[in-house]
Amino acid sequence: MSYIKNNKNFSKVTLMRIKEMKESGDKISMVTCYDSAFARLIDPSPIDVVLVGDSLGNVMLGYDNTVRVTLDDMVHHTAAVARCLSRPFLVSDMPFGSYQCSAEQAFQSAVRLIQGGMAEAVKLEGGKSICPQVERIVGSGIPVVGHIGLTPQSIHVLGGYRVQGRGDEAAKQLVEDAICLEKAGACMVVLELVPADVAVKVTEALSIPTIGIGAGPGTDGQVLVLQDLLGFNSEFKPKFLKRYADLGERIASALREYVQDVSSGQFPSEDNSFS
Ligand code: KIV
Repeated sequence: MSYIKNNKNFSKVTLMRIKEMKESGDKISMVTCYDSAFARLIDPSPIDVVLVGDSLGNVMLGYDNTVRVTLDDMVHHTAAVARCLSRPFLVSDMPFGSYQCSAEQAFQSAVRLIQGGMAEAVKLEGGKSICPQVERIVGSGIPVVGHIGLTPQSIHVLGGYRVQGRGDEAAKQLVEDAICLEKAGACMVVLELVPADVAVKVTEALSIPTIGIGAGPGTDGQVLVLQDLLGFNSEFKPKFLKRYADLGERIASALREYVQDVSSGQFPSEDNSFS
């Protein structure tokens, strides 16, 4: 979007910048986004990283979980975001079934998200077991973000959305997984629903940034689902969430007012009509 690029405040967020932020202790802000309407609003904001998460299954497609999201869904939504986003660093999720088979399958799927979706990096769930995939993708020149702790694509194995990494053994495993991901070439690691002290241990063990969601204040950055932080659903109140707006209620009230105006004949007025 050239009007922003020509603005003197425009400064494209690159991987280099994200690395510098880790080194200087500047916290990294990440939000999810799934469409061009919100991408336009996020672009001029100071958000550093935008994630087209497979949470789009829950937020945009009405599924109960993320496992039904396809690679086609991800390419479609990532491209919609990319067309209206130029400043933040853009990451796209590799959906369930698009990388688990082999390193080659992972590479082919990542290429679709980069070429068709115009993402700048891809994110995969899992630790040591998916490091061959991470190595293959990074080796081909595509940055990879890891994702450990609660990994929603494994919801049927985990048996629910609950805190991971509790207890010495589980915490040690998380640190080991994170180190493996860094060694395989990952450029960031998302830590989802892990105890705050474990997130600190992981963060201290890595030279790449950690981004937390439900992982306390000790990570290098934070990520939230955009619609959650904007308060689209007043019923959704997990402990880790802070709401920064109450848009669900504002939208409901705007719709009630519109219906009232239509019913009473107040809309359209002369101002809204052509002669
Ligand atoms: O899909 C998603 O929104 C995510 C974030 C919760 C990190 O993976």
